[in-house]
Amino acid sequence: MTPGDFQLSLTKMTDEDSNRLRNYIQTNFGIRLKEEKRALLEGRLHKRLRVLGIRTFKEYCDFLFSDEGMKSEPETLMNLISTNKTDFFRENHHFEYLRDHILPELSMRSLNIWSAACSTGEEPYTIAMTVENYLTVNNIGDLHYNILATDISTSALNAGFRAVYTEKVIEPVPPEFRLRFLMKNKDPNSDLYRVVPEMRAKVAFRYLNFMDHRYDVKEKMQVVFCRNALIYFDADEKEKIVNKLCDHLITGGYFFVGHSESLFNMKIPLRLIKPTIYVKEN
Ligand SMILES: C[S@@+](CC[C@H](N)C(=O)[O-])C[C@H]1O[C@@H](n2cnc3c(N)ncnc32)[C@H](O)[C@@H]1O
Repeated sequence: MTPGDFQLSLTKMTDEDSNRLRNYIQTNFGIRLKEEKRALLEGRLHKRLRVLGIRTFKEYCDFLFSDEGMKSEPETLMNLISTNKTDFFRENHHFEYLRDHILPELSMRSLNIWSAACSTGEEPYTIAMTVENYLTVNNIGDLHYNILATDISTSALNAGFRAVYTEKVIEPVPPEFRLRFLMKNKDPNSDLYRVVPEMRAKVAFRYLNFMDHRYDVKEKMQVVFCRNALIYFDADEKEKIVNKLCDHLITGGYFFVGHSESLFNMKIPLRLIKPTIYVKEN
């Protein structure tokens, strides 16, 4: 047995630990981790145990559920287990639809768009770039727009707020958009880019847990993007989340979901107009 094996055997997750953690995560964050995901959970928490100087998952559970642990550990736990995969211009047909159908049909002079489950910011900044470019191309100077970007992961929200991305991450941004909306770090050896201040000012990042009873959002939205997050929730919860999001969407407003998500068979005020694109009805 090597020292590495010894350490692993010390931190093996038991059925009881796995059930306690998965139940807690589902009840509080809505994310359903099936038993098959135990290895993933274990992998993501290993490092945390080391940081805390804890050797078993039982001790970790005891700490998490203690008064002390409950103060800040849920946030850390969520940051560790959330899957933040995202991209600039991900599922680009949605941004093309925004540019070609939604923006030309706007009747009002102000526009609110919500990127719900915005992860590290690539989605809301893609929306901002799409709207800003549309306004320039069409010589429109009097449309005010704001983008609300919410997520449960505070580490993802911080990254979005910082708006600094590597060259690899900005690859999907078209060259003319890069020139206009991204600034390269002055250090010639750096591969980092930052979203320009004008675009950063258009996006407000805020914490929001889909499991909250109601969403504390004042604005009425014309468009909601809720993509690639609903897949983690069970059908009942998904339906509740979509209804809570729709409470903040105007009648006739648009709702986008990810390519592998369906809102089929749900009691929601949305009508499918194209695959993954819905419009709100009364
Ligand atoms: C895979 S990312 C999707 C990002 C982006 N919408 C996209 O399509 O590229 C899923 C996001 O959902 C967020 N999320 C998971 N559970 C959540 C919850 N209960 N409330 C709010 N956001 C949640 C995660 O933190 C993560 O950033």
